[in-house]
Amino acid sequence: MIIKISDDALARAMGADELARAFERKGHEVHRTSSWGMHWLEPLVEIDGKGWGPATLEDVDDILEGGAAEIAIGAIEQHPFIARQQRLTFARAGKTRPLNLQDYEATGGWAGLRRARQIGSAQILEEVTASGLRGRGGAGFPAGIKWQTVAKASGPQKYIVCNADEGDSGTFADRMLIEGDPFMLIEGMAIAGEAVGADRGYVYLRSEYPDAIRKLERAVELSAGIVAPFQVEVRVGAGAYVCGEETSLLNSLEGKRGEVRAKPPLPALEGLFGKPTVVNNVLTLAAVPHILVEGGAGHYGTLGMGRSKGTMPIQLAGNLKHGGLFETGFGITLKELIYDIGGGTESGRPVKAVQVGGPLGAYLHPDQFDIRFDYEEYTEADALIGHGGITVFDDSADMGAMARFAMEFCAAESCGKCTPCRIGAVRGVELIDRIRTGGRTADHIERTAVMHNAPKHGRSQEQEIGLLTDLCETMKFGSLCALGGFTPFPVMSALKNWPEDFTGRADREA
Ligand code: NAI
Ligand code: SF4
Repeated sequence: MIIKISDDALARAMGADELARAFERKGHEVHRTSSWGMHWLEPLVEIDGKGWGPATLEDVDDILEGGAAEIAIGAIEQHPFIARQQRLTFARAGKTRPLNLQDYEATGGWAGLRRARQIGSAQILEEVTASGLRGRGGAGFPAGIKWQTVAKASGPQKYIVCNADEGDSGTFADRMLIEGDPFMLIEGMAIAGEAVGADRGYVYLRSEYPDAIRKLERAVELSAGIVAPFQVEVRVGAGAYVCGEETSLLNSLEGKRGEVRAKPPLPALEGLFGKPTVVNNVLTLAAVPHILVEGGAGHYGTLGMGRSKGTMPIQLAGNLKHGGLFETGFGITLKELIYDIGGGTESGRPVKAVQVGGPLGAYLHPDQFDIRFDYEEYTEADALIGHGGITVFDDSADMGAMARFAMEFCAAESCGKCTPCRIGAVRGVELIDRIRTGGRTADHIERTAVMHNAPKHGRSQEQEIGLLTDLCETMKFGSLCALGGFTPFPVMSALKNWPEDFTGRADREA
């Protein structure tokens, strides 16, 4: 009897290591697999396809006797959370041992790379373009077009850079993929190398993911002979959110300060060390082996809606009963995700807001929960799907405070290169404070006047809101990168949907 328990960082944080040892002490063989992504059930114990979770040390004997009914979930693959998914990128999740090459090959590993090497660059480019795969880091730029630009660029040295600096709040898909299926990322990078003529790849991985760093480094060693002459190197970032922005990331990789570069030149033409470079997110590269196995006109492009093809690993987080990884074709609504799949709030209180796309994403109001998960529909709603992170808030959330947090975050993480972001974010925090206090306290007016070198008078709340709106416009259109440019999304959506959380507070405190 083989017992499966995940060695994903989340499962380990919930006690998976101790649990695995307890089963081993009883003489059982334990396979440490990747996680199924049902986070509320970790640590999850699997025996012959059936699951028990969240399991504790006290449950070990009962589980072995086929009991522990209160935590038994039956056949894992038939659990509604899993059965409703369309798993392509996470097809191996929960099933294989992350660093076991036999497990990887037995589940179709390296087949995409083998085919890529047979068909050659031009056809790989054609197939990736035909699949409709778009960048999963957030911007949704067509991967095939980006690769074509790099392939056509002149010069013998080109690079593949994988952006694994997953900094968005509520996101964990890159981490899960690297910890759970690292060979697939390496295979995707090697295919990209075949397509554009690059023999070197770098993974820029955030330092906050120690398990992922350890596993990826080991996976690189184990697969070096298979992907050769392509070579992969893991580089660890130092914790700056802005280093997730591609040009800042490239500077950091080169050992320079993580400051954004102006575009053009595009990294596709002048990227790492000035050479043509593919910069793709983990999930973009990890989707490629499947596309190559199926062929560009195959299964992948038939999923999704409109121009958003294929599947998106959506990350359900925040105040939700059933948080975890839910991969499905584009087109699903927030209503389905939050209520049918996520089970509503953990607190049992009504949902007030959902932030989609990380700290720079808009706060969506329940009236907007019918919008379909699609790049274009979100853009139309002044929102973004970003990296697919969904953070749920119940009705105790103070949206004025959340708007303030967005400005504060931008001020803290700004690289300082452009004025709208560097100064705008600081002024934004002050403005929101003034709006929320009604700008009424004499001390505050005094301080503000000194800061602005302005006359000692208080502006009306309406005027302050007008100023905040103007400031957001300036940041949106005048910032050099998405950090300053997208911070207005959470701020303005909070102001538009919950104005009472800005002005009501002042009225209450007056
Ligand atoms: P962008 O729209 O400027 O570029 C998208 C990508 O396409 C870039 O790699 C760019 O170099 C490339 N590109 C554009 N035109 C091209 C062409 N003609 N040929 C080849 N390549 C071309 O967007 P940006 O600034 O790179 O990313 C913004 C996004 O990042 C936002 O949508 C946001 O959702 C996301 N984001 C993601 C985070 C995360 O943790 N994953 C954190 C913060 C933001
Ligand atoms: Fe730097 Fe902010 Fe300007 Fe981006 S928007 S370049 S992070 S100062």
